[in-house]
Amino acid sequence: MIGLIGAMSVEVEALMAKLDDRKETKIGMDTFVSGRLFGKDAVLSVCGPGKINAALCAQSMILHFKPEWVLNLGVAGAGETGVSIGDMVVATAAVQHDVDTSPIGDPVGMVSKINLIEIPCDEALRVKLVKAASAVEGVKVHEGVIATGDQFIHDGGVRSRINGLFRAKAVEMEGGAVAQACYMHGVPCGVLRSISDQADGHSDMDYPTFTSLAAAHSQRVVELLLSE
Ligand code: ADE
Repeated sequence: MIGLIGAMSVEVEALMAKLDDRKETKIGMDTFVSGRLFGKDAVLSVCGPGKINAALCAQSMILHFKPEWVLNLGVAGAGETGVSIGDMVVATAAVQHDVDTSPIGDPVGMVSKINLIEIPCDEALRVKLVKAASAVEGVKVHEGVIATGDQFIHDGGVRSRINGLFRAKAVEMEGGAVAQACYMHGVPCGVLRSISDQADGHSDMDYPTFTSLAAAHSQRVVELLLSE
């Protein structure tokens, strides 16, 4: 069984449509749809935006379905100028840019209890994701840190601060939470994002215009990954 989590339905609906022998399971306010996806056992869920929604969904998925790995997929804002709308970012690690206990001596971004800034993503899964993403025509693939926080980033100054602290290639709102839940349960994790906007406040129309296209790209990568 493999687990796939998107924050919004546009980020998983193309995969949901391809799921055979579907079965729905509700846990709290999360709905999990399991079945066969491109010949593999899979469970999909739309967790809703933000870190707590994502962590709760990932934990329920892990405990109930025992997936061999969990992938968080969807769209993200660009984390730096070298990353453009339509590009894809595969995470080497995820950080939580809004965690800050620096006034009591911790480095910015250090997540207490697991005591990590960078929550690692599974290397074998990352290599396969990069290979699959590179097969999508016209898409540039980056590997690096993905930064998560409970904010939609829409300001060049905020974006540069996050990039300066963490070298983030993409900013989004769930990957670091899914990665933390996976880390705490010893489950391999991947984060795959397709860039929908520049996150710098310069082009107000980026996000609505490019979200469906970007979401389609990351779902195509999962199709290639599972069909290999
Ligand atoms: N998801 C897509 N674009 C985003 C942004 N600019 N900030 C946070 N999450 C996002």
